[in-house]
Amino acid sequence: MPGSSPFNPVSPQAQAIASSFNSTLIILGVIFAIVAGLTLYIIFRFRAQPGASMPAQDFGSPRLEIAWTIAPAILLVVMFSLSMRTMRVSDPPRESREPDLVVIAHQWWWELYYPRSGVTTANEIHLPVGRAMLVRLESADVVHDFWLPQLARKIDAVPGRSNHFWLQADQPGVFLGACAEFCGNEHAWMRLRAIAEDEDRFNRWQIEQATIPAPPERGLAADGARIFELRTCVNCHAIQGTVAYKRIGPDLTHLAMRQTLGAGALDNGHDNLARWLANPAAFKPGSHMPDLQLSSDEVNALVAYLESLH
Ligand code: CUA
Repeated sequence: MPGSSPFNPVSPQAQAIASSFNSTLIILGVIFAIVAGLTLYIIFRFRAQPGASMPAQDFGSPRLEIAWTIAPAILLVVMFSLSMRTMRVSDPPRESREPDLVVIAHQWWWELYYPRSGVTTANEIHLPVGRAMLVRLESADVVHDFWLPQLARKIDAVPGRSNHFWLQADQPGVFLGACAEFCGNEHAWMRLRAIAEDEDRFNRWQIEQATIPAPPERGLAADGARIFELRTCVNCHAIQGTVAYKRIGPDLTHLAMRQTLGAGALDNGHDNLARWLANPAAFKPGSHMPDLQLSSDEVNALVAYLESLH
């Protein structure tokens, strides 16, 4: 993933984490150099000489012992305060307010809910540049781990409890992330991305997402809408403005506006959508999206319908 490195932070939170990591690395590097250097020096300087007798043995040195107790204690205080400073920047205060975004981790995708606008989407977080979003993280099943290295701290999604963190991007762009805790077969295809855009575009996106797409009246897309309701799609998915309301799989109301399918398994597009519907297991084996044994006519109609969902 080019450009998604934690060493290239794009938010004050990620910046604090990167600088705390770098400071720790420098401290540890200096300690390593001192210990390794002294060890090498001693190995060569005091190696056994031919014919030499046993050197004098020393026991106990209060000065040395005080030094090697105090020095690590000081280091501990320094690193502790570094950690505290980083936590203060990256973690919101407890019970501060209603979140701006609720992220619910599922096997193997991310449900995203914006409480203020009521928008629900999946796998692609939109956020306004320069504003810290308070995120509440939950899990619908097992332990997952939210990680968007350039933007925020890494944090577990634990069933039965919620965790909070700040999510912020100081530049527009697309930032890649992933689930960072092994959570079953398709852990590797539990990708996410954050799309940071200026406040106006973000607000427009929210308005578009909150709008219910007009149901197709005729043609292939209308056939697809019927197939969607007749086949088992409605048992797991929601599409606003239709009878489909289940939240077991991703909300598909504006699927056509998303960049990827299957939480990053495929780029979203006509051919990939058809291949995905025909056999999800080919791209995401073990995924909870079943092979519905659709005929190619049914696949084409469903693709036409899903592509109409702007
Ligand atoms: Cu979810 Cu790994």
